[in-house]
Amino acid sequence: MCGIVGYVGTQQASTRPLEVVLEGLRRLEYRGYDSAGVALVAPDGGGLSTAKKAGKLANLVGELQAHPLPVASAAIGHTRWATHGAPNDVNAHPHVAGPIALIHNGIVENFAVLKAELLADGVQFRSETDTEVAAHLLARAYAETGDLSAAMCGVARRLEGTFTLLAVHADLPDVVVGARHDSPLVVGLGEGENFLGSDVAAFIAHTRDALELGQDQVVTLSPDGVEVTDFFGVPAQGRRYRVDWDAAAAEKGGFASFMDKEIHDQPQAVGDTLLGRTDLAGNLVLDDLRIDESVLRSIDKIVVIACGTAAYAGHVAKYAIEHWCRIPVEVELAHEFRYRDPVVGPRTLVVAISQSGETMDTLMAVRHAREQGAKVLAICNTHGSTIPRESDAVLYTHAGPEIAVASTKAFLSQITAAYLLGLYLAQLRGNKFPDEIAETFDQLRAMPERIQTVLDRADAVRKAARELADVPSVLFLGRHVGFPVALEGALKLKELAYIHAEGFAAGELKHGPIALIDEGQPVFVVVPSPRGRDSLHSKVISNIQEIRARGARTLVIAEDGDDAVEAYADDVFYVPQCPTLLSPLLATVPLQVFACELATARGLDVDQPRNLAKSVTVE
Ligand code: M6R
Repeated sequence: MCGIVGYVGTQQASTRPLEVVLEGLRRLEYRGYDSAGVALVAPDGGGLSTAKKAGKLANLVGELQAHPLPVASAAIGHTRWATHGAPNDVNAHPHVAGPIALIHNGIVENFAVLKAELLADGVQFRSETDTEVAAHLLARAYAETGDLSAAMCGVARRLEGTFTLLAVHADLPDVVVGARHDSPLVVGLGEGENFLGSDVAAFIAHTRDALELGQDQVVTLSPDGVEVTDFFGVPAQGRRYRVDWDAAAAEKGGFASFMDKEIHDQPQAVGDTLLGRTDLAGNLVLDDLRIDESVLRSIDKIVVIACGTAAYAGHVAKYAIEHWCRIPVEVELAHEFRYRDPVVGPRTLVVAISQSGETMDTLMAVRHAREQGAKVLAICNTHGSTIPRESDAVLYTHAGPEIAVASTKAFLSQITAAYLLGLYLAQLRGNKFPDEIAETFDQLRAMPERIQTVLDRADAVRKAARELADVPSVLFLGRHVGFPVALEGALKLKELAYIHAEGFAAGELKHGPIALIDEGQPVFVVVPSPRGRDSLHSKVISNIQEIRARGARTLVIAEDGDDAVEAYADDVFYVPQCPTLLSPLLATVPLQVFACELATARGLDVDQPRNLAKSVTVE
């Protein structure tokens, strides 16, 4: 959580540092929006100036218009998701200690001990944050060493927990120093200027050349150079790479919200994730996989670890991989995984799914799995992020930047990557004939066009969403792969519209949830294809009748040609026909549109729902 930006450039005092940092904060605001702040350093003895304000970035911008800061040559900026201390002006970052201003993403777990030590030294604290201890420690260490980088190394060695820190000093107008431990930080490389950001979006408007930092590194940025060391000052190397998307991809592109845009990006996101996955002979090739084929042939269990929407993608993966490969697949919430002594070993393939690649619960589960001897494969959307770096292999999704807090195109891309993995394992292990794999892959390649068809028909879903804008609760039912779709539909609505929403396996209905059905209760039902397992289709049709008989308003997602649903549905949203296992790529889309439209009709901010942040980088 929290977004961090740093800039050092022109040796002259200029408005550019502030402009760059505010632009970066605008692009990182999805990471947290409880407060925002900046610190600037001016050359020629101009010193340090700061501004910070509770609430969204707009409040800080208003404050800066009312009380402009002096022009500067270096700057840092922060957008906060509050952990320690209420989201008010005082607790907003930067925190100032003497000549130092510091910003932080993460949690300093030993802050109470450090604070007691500093209080005993006579240090006075202004905020309730854990971060302020780091600012005071840095000021103290700088006073002793006179070297900001060395001082940062010393502080980093003393902190426990997770952190990215950036600091500037009033007397150093051409230096920004950063440190990272289990929280993200990337360098942007410019001409006579350099950048730091929690992710590349922070500086994508200025450069696509980036430097990936490793764990436990300190970086010292000047206009003409970037120096990286470990926490003991030993020189280290970052990895240079070029970002494969540009600033336009991180703009709304004419849509009312990022979420709406990202829903509409989905045909491309799925198509791009499928690109370049076959060789000339039509065999699947997953170039990013660094796990030996003999190891993949020998695995006897797959465990998917993920959180939230990514975990629902894992549920879909389970149905497909078990069916195609006959390997048992367990799906586990990452935060539960390492606390229950999971039985994993060298013949277990752990698949960690994460859009951001920075979710702390998932990262910790990855580390635990590797400690137990399991191989870990990451399915991830963010190049250079921590989870793929710490995994044995990676399968990148190519969804492009996902800015809205609620995940949409990442979900469909994760499912697509999981299908690729399943088909690849089936090919490698000989579970399917090559022509069967080729046929399924052809079906996958047809999915972007079918998703587009669902989008083209979405007006009917929007109309239903507006009609239901004031309901207190919506239920979602699904069976087989429709079950994780129902769970995802409910999560989207909870996140965006702040109303009760729950997803159930349709078969579970009579075991309890049917008691919730009352006159007018809206229930989405994801109906399996009648061309799939016959009994499943008819059982779900019976479920629709059962809830309708008890007064439910039934909103049914069914495939084209399924006339059987019409007699029992108040609304039917048809999606194109496709193989059953691939159907979540279609059935999810109306539910995303529904949540987005209903929340919009309630006057809510769909891109930045309350209390949430895009990447959950603390446990
Ligand atoms: O970045 P990740 O995929 O690891 O994030 C996992 C979840 O935090 C994320 O999917 C979350 O549930 C979204 N807000 C869902 O819309």
